[in-house]
Amino acid sequence: MLTELNAKQRVAQHAADLIEDDMVVGLGTGSTANYFIEALAKRQEMGLRCTTVASSVVSTIKAKSLGLPQMSMEHLDHIDIYVDGADEVTEDKTLLKGRGSDLVREKLLARACDEFYVLVDQSKLVTRIGQLYPIPIEVMPFAWQMVLRDLEALGGEGQLRPNAYGDGLAMTSHGSLVLDMTFENSDALVLDTTLNALPGVVEHGIFAHLATAVFIADESVDVIEQRR
Ligand code: A5P
Repeated sequence: MLTELNAKQRVAQHAADLIEDDMVVGLGTGSTANYFIEALAKRQEMGLRCTTVASSVVSTIKAKSLGLPQMSMEHLDHIDIYVDGADEVTEDKTLLKGRGSDLVREKLLARACDEFYVLVDQSKLVTRIGQLYPIPIEVMPFAWQMVLRDLEALGGEGQLRPNAYGDGLAMTSHGSLVLDMTFENSDALVLDTTLNALPGVVEHGIFAHLATAVFIADESVDVIEQRR
């Protein structure tokens, strides 16, 4: 019963119900994406046939444990649907992602799909990107000081992300470091373009013009759909 599910589960179930036979489905990373993977696996038990491609080692392991068929990204040039959570979403469907460490794969899947469904609850809705969290900027390890200087010249403030134990630095799946940066009053779309062009930046957490639908779970059982 949908009413027995928490908000993240409801919105994940809603997205899983939209998957059709023979689709290639991108799997996101995070607690909401995990609920989607579980809901998709249940649909497979009921007879759905689909192939998945994971955005991280964590989602690979989760999908494997539930018996979902997987392909690796290097065999694909396109996927049907990518489903993932986000840390912030604005009204124009710009996203902030990247509290995890797999921004590169996440953005590749978001770019390669026909439909990108973003699953959030009301707490993720913001009026501007950067309102709740710093913007993660993945950098080549040897370039971090040069990139930081460039970002500070743009009005940014921040530092390298520490690891979970606080005794070293966080490292992404691809061996990059992450600068968590705040920019007072900067326009996310302008910042997106600027960061895309900055040498030493591998990827960053602003996902602009990529989401095709945002599914929002609210306190009721309803899921609100915002589509492009
Ligand atoms: C992963 O790198 C992130 O972009 C997640 O998609 C984001 O942090 C959402 O996570 P939750 O679903 O756990 O809130």
